[in-house]
Amino acid sequence: MSDKKLSRRDMLKLAGSATLATAFPSPGLTARAESPQIKAEEAAEVKTEATAEEVVNALEGAYGVHPGRRRNHTKGIGAEGFFIGNPELAAYSRSGLFTGEKITVVARFSIAGGNPNVPDADRGPRGLGLEFRLPSGSLHHMTMINTPMFFAAVPKTFLDKFIALAIDPATGKPNPAKLEAFAKSHADNKGQAEYLKAHNPPPSYANCPFFGIHTFKFVNAKDEVTPVKFRFVPGDGEKFLTDAEMASAPNDFLEKALFERLAEGPAKWDMIVTIGEPTDEQTNPTVLWPEGRKEVKAGTLTITSAVPNAEAGSFKINYDPLVMADGIQPTNDPVLLFRSPSYATSFTRRLRGI
Ligand code: HEM
Repeated sequence: MSDKKLSRRDMLKLAGSATLATAFPSPGLTARAESPQIKAEEAAEVKTEATAEEVVNALEGAYGVHPGRRRNHTKGIGAEGFFIGNPELAAYSRSGLFTGEKITVVARFSIAGGNPNVPDADRGPRGLGLEFRLPSGSLHHMTMINTPMFFAAVPKTFLDKFIALAIDPATGKPNPAKLEAFAKSHADNKGQAEYLKAHNPPPSYANCPFFGIHTFKFVNAKDEVTPVKFRFVPGDGEKFLTDAEMASAPNDFLEKALFERLAEGPAKWDMIVTIGEPTDEQTNPTVLWPEGRKEVKAGTLTITSAVPNAEAGSFKINYDPLVMADGIQPTNDPVLLFRSPSYATSFTRRLRGI
């Protein structure tokens, strides 16, 4: 399915999911949400929506509350560096990312999930948040993980997964039967689950590729729009722990590995942009594009230093992926759009120290 216009119902759902809209419901929205036509449409479809509050509460149910910390990707490390874009990308995007100028980047590497003490050999995804500080003063965010696809085609799948991972008070652990039932009832989860099973975790963040996963729209100076996906490919090559290394790895090794790697010199990633065809899926982040699409090197990210999580500039950044400078826009991918209110809810709680 290509990018489609949001229906009135979709807009109402998104508005209803947003933190501010929930906190300050507008009389107009309430009146329209109660219209009999919309109620009938709602009743006729399978419930796929979730709210930001629900998902952040579910993350807390699965991992406990760690005051002042991210509710997801809690364990991480800050980093700093710069990005130099390829000016040839101007054919596709007028973003200040692709002028060839050196752009300051504040980064954060992380492990998915809300456990601040998760073992570094955990099979879950690794994350990278990038805040590009453009010379114009604009900010641009890219918030990626190391699997090419996501596990949720709709926000409800994300919610259901963390409800299934809720800590059972009787055992102090999640109930494996609930996770199994989640996997059986959510086909969209399958692609990423199989990918994670087939790929052991990396020995270092420097050996990790990072995927933007969603489709984004590149907009050039003539207002022409091109659907793209992007990924960051590590200059150190992609590497995986062996099964034996996974079994014997200490709880914490990723931070040390990054400090040691950067002591030798900067670590680099090439940003590769895949140019979409009009028929390519644009709103479902669990679906990959066919092989053979045109690819362009869009720039190089250089990470020069790492900073312990709580002391890093990134500690208080909200890596909301909808923070985008002119020249790159979101598609109507419901998961991409839902990330913004979810991150805001987590951000608000952690800023308040709760
Ligand atoms: C329904 C979809 C999603 C939900 C509800 C969700 C939720 C969250 C939340 C609540 C946080 C913590 C935010 C904060 O406190 O700053 C977070 C962080 C993060 N998420 Fe997501 N996420 C979703 C999808 C994704 C996807 C598709 C990706 C990758 C393409 C991703 C990558 C990350 C990364 C890397 C971080 C850590 C960023 C940082 O270091 O601050 N998430 N997510």
